[in-house]
Amino acid sequence: MQWMVDFCTPEVDLIIKSRTEGIVREVAEAIFSRTEVRGGLHYNELFTSQPPTRRHKPISDGGVKLTFLGHASFMLETRSINILIDPVIPVRGEHYADDVISYSELPETINYICITHNHHDHFNLETLLQLRHKADKLILPVNNGGTIIDPSMKLIAQQLGFKVIEVGDIEEVEVSDGKIKAIPFLGEHGDLNIRSKTVWYIELMGKKFLFGADANNSDPVMYRHVHKLVGDVDVLAIGMECVGAPYTWIYGALNTEPVSKDISHSRRLNGSNAEQAYHMVETFNARQVFLYAMGLEPWYKYFMGLDYKDNSEQIIESDKMIKLCSDKGVACQRLVGKNVTFY
Ligand SMILES: [Fe+2]
Repeated sequence: MQWMVDFCTPEVDLIIKSRTEGIVREVAEAIFSRTEVRGGLHYNELFTSQPPTRRHKPISDGGVKLTFLGHASFMLETRSINILIDPVIPVRGEHYADDVISYSELPETINYICITHNHHDHFNLETLLQLRHKADKLILPVNNGGTIIDPSMKLIAQQLGFKVIEVGDIEEVEVSDGKIKAIPFLGEHGDLNIRSKTVWYIELMGKKFLFGADANNSDPVMYRHVHKLVGDVDVLAIGMECVGAPYTWIYGALNTEPVSKDISHSRRLNGSNAEQAYHMVETFNARQVFLYAMGLEPWYKYFMGLDYKDNSEQIIESDKMIKLCSDKGVACQRLVGKNVTFY
């Protein structure tokens, strides 16, 4: 079914909200009858009279709850604030309850959504549009203005009706129970001059979290300088898709002439390998390490174009990383699907 409406019409939010809050049948009928619908499916087939069985459970103690939502998405919650990082919410049936967090399990209001960079598995408009009615603010890294290769996420998000805070490297946003700071993100963008990327440092209730996403720690000296600013961290989450697609996979359409395979295959969209990721663990004296953003969940297969085998380099490198950490007594886990920890 194709619903021919502008993303910004209020009816879009009403229909999206009905996922968790329900909608009166006559209201839904009125909305669809005054807008154009194409395709073989009738809108009635999108609705059910059964409310979602899974609901958000507010945090009951005074700590911080960290929920992994799959692939590159995390949620941080205290009693007074919640923050989503790179949300991508897959829609699966109720029988996948052990594997995914559904829309109905998210809090009624999302205070902040932090985006690390604009790749489709991190800045995911399909998900963001469905969170718009409950999101207070997006926090986005500033782009390298004036180039089509690095568009402004701020302008895109504002066009879609979001309130935006845009930050550059080392800038900080004070929030209830702590702060959010933008930390430099190296590499992973095919050596292109793209600046709209950030590692998020989030401090809540005195606990410190670093969300590295696809950062490729190609220059460990840089994070040693950052350590002087933020100190040791309790949790380091670092992406280990260390092979990466050739840069032309995302940016090829912007080339003005064809490039040889030698060039496109040597400039990649790759995150950290074991050595690079372990440098971050040592630099920040991380107590808990999570390896993520590898597209390991089967429902990401077609979204990411990845299909892992036991001998895939990403698996070998992340196994190596787990061993490096365990040899030093650091807890390290490769995350898949859904995971909840308390701090
Ligand atoms: Fe990426």
